[in-house]
Amino acid sequence: MVLSDIAAISEIAHARGAEVSVDNTFMSPALQSPLALGADIVMHSTTKYLNGHSDGIGGALIGSKPEHKDRFLLVQKASGGVLSPFECYLALRGIKTMPLRIKQHEENGRAVAEFLSSHPKVSKLAYPGLASHPQYELAVRQQKGFGSMLSFELASREEAARFLAGIKIFLNAESLGGVESLASHSATTTHASVSAETRAQMGITEGRIRLSVGIEDKEDLIADLDQALAAV
Ligand SMILES: Cc1ncc(COP(=O)(O)O)c(C=O)c1O
Repeated sequence: MVLSDIAAISEIAHARGAEVSVDNTFMSPALQSPLALGADIVMHSTTKYLNGHSDGIGGALIGSKPEHKDRFLLVQKASGGVLSPFECYLALRGIKTMPLRIKQHEENGRAVAEFLSSHPKVSKLAYPGLASHPQYELAVRQQKGFGSMLSFELASREEAARFLAGIKIFLNAESLGGVESLASHSATTTHASVSAETRAQMGITEGRIRLSVGIEDKEDLIADLDQALAAV
């Protein structure tokens, strides 16, 4: 949940003849346009918000120059990294409802963040849509919304385990960007391959939980978090 200033990075890189690539998966094309901010290449895991239903795996690269297309086509041809027709169908079908889904993800993400921000058992909540986030102003400047990814800290690994055992609507799973809400233990999932020392430097403590807030009824989501936190 640490943001990168895409315009500033692009300016520095371009002054030195380098190109900038942005993984825009957490934001989706609905909430952030890296090419308009100066980046040269954008990547999306279509597995996430673009497909939106956690039933297809894929990715997309979007270049800003004709030579990007030639380079991507050569890699696809040489390595065979090509989506099947069915994966394309699922991604295209998902994209048709993406703006609507993102609106609800946004509304729910904000509601959940506001709920967690005043919960006594929760600390170090990271959601760029809250004015308390150290990069809130950057988020407002470069994003069209704040998305539905957030993370927070419980006091220990044991508390995190009790929380994950207690959730009923949120699922304990690592992916993101689907219609269903997910919660995961960062140290043993997304950051399991990172050394404990580096995790500590990154602020990924043993009690850190990541949420991908889905599009369910937001009162139900908050009630679920509330009862799971009560059991911590
Ligand atoms: C930001 C981001 N980019 C890319 C990926 C890779 O996506 P895929 O699972 O489609 O290979 C992930 C997966 O978790 C991700 O979180």
